[in-house]
Amino acid sequence: HEQSTMFRTIEWVQIGTHKCEAWYFSPYPEEYHKLDCLFICHYCLSYFQCDEDMERHSQRCDSRYPPGHEIYRDDKVSVFEVDGAKEPIYCENLSLVSKLFLDHKNLSYELSPFLFYCLCEYNDEGYQIAGYFSKEKDFSKPTDTDSFSPEKFEKERNYNNLSCILVFPFHQRKGYGKFLISFSYELGILEGRQGTPETPLSDLGHRTYISWWTFKLLTFLKHFSGEEISVSDISQQTGILQSDIIKLFESFKILRYQQGDHFLVTPKRLLKTLIKKAGNPGHPVNPELIHWAPFE
Ligand code: COA
Ligand code: NA
Repeated sequence: HEQSTMFRTIEWVQIGTHKCEAWYFSPYPEEYHKLDCLFICHYCLSYFQCDEDMERHSQRCDSRYPPGHEIYRDDKVSVFEVDGAKEPIYCENLSLVSKLFLDHKNLSYELSPFLFYCLCEYNDEGYQIAGYFSKEKDFSKPTDTDSFSPEKFEKERNYNNLSCILVFPFHQRKGYGKFLISFSYELGILEGRQGTPETPLSDLGHRTYISWWTFKLLTFLKHFSGEEISVSDISQQTGILQSDIIKLFESFKILRYQQGDHFLVTPKRLLKTLIKKAGNPGHPVNPELIHWAPFE
């Protein structure tokens, strides 16, 4: 944890037209620290010591979107899937800039085991990254022909559908964090498995997840018309790990344990009150607009 305890050495960073303060130390090469401001290309994420170098780069950089497949696009944002093994430079640049806003996680120097889901806003100029989440590839789905093993069970139980999440400060509190979380669960649903984010979560990460789980699960219950439903059914349909559902519902005191499974008792009026407290749903993911197949 040497890195995360080091002092911040970059104070300001300019990404495209957005200037913001850095939060934490990031291991850029030595000569990029202690400048007035670090300049970063909004498209290829290369970094520069001064405005003039940045300007010169902009004139010849022809990158206009993250180097991967566009797997989602709605009327506001787009998502690109970038493979850490195929685009090591881009992914290293992304990790360096994101470390400026991530405290607890040490930068992983090994980027090839990860996929990066880059959320972009787009306009006539191109696709400008607003945030991303990473996800480990090697959680290969157990096949039906595999015999049962405790290792397999354990792996499935701790399946991380998200490793690291970031929204750049100048785009925070607009619902993009919740969009990325929704997206990670939608990919899990397409893979046919329930997942949970990698821990530990940062304070902001934790708050965002609690807020997202609350809204997602309460809305799910609101649309459910039966008398009671099991946690395993909810988990199947939402992609949320059972233990995360149980933790959340226990805090609302609407759980009942019966015959080896948890059931919910959900008076509609109570749900309405709880949903009001749940906050903003975030920018929505329309699952029909996802064009993606699980990584092979
Ligand atoms: N004070 C109180 N609540 C806050 C908050 C703050 N400063 N920041 C976020 N939250 C909570 C709120 O519940 C908020 O929902 P609301 O706006 O409806 O009240 C929710 O979290 C954020 O929702 P959203 O706008 O979708 O998230 P975001 O785009 O701001 O992104 C993070 C959230 C966590 C991705 C972003 O804060 C971030 O990148 N932080 C730095 C990196 C980090 O810590 N990543 C997690 C590592 S595990
Ligand atoms: Na928000």
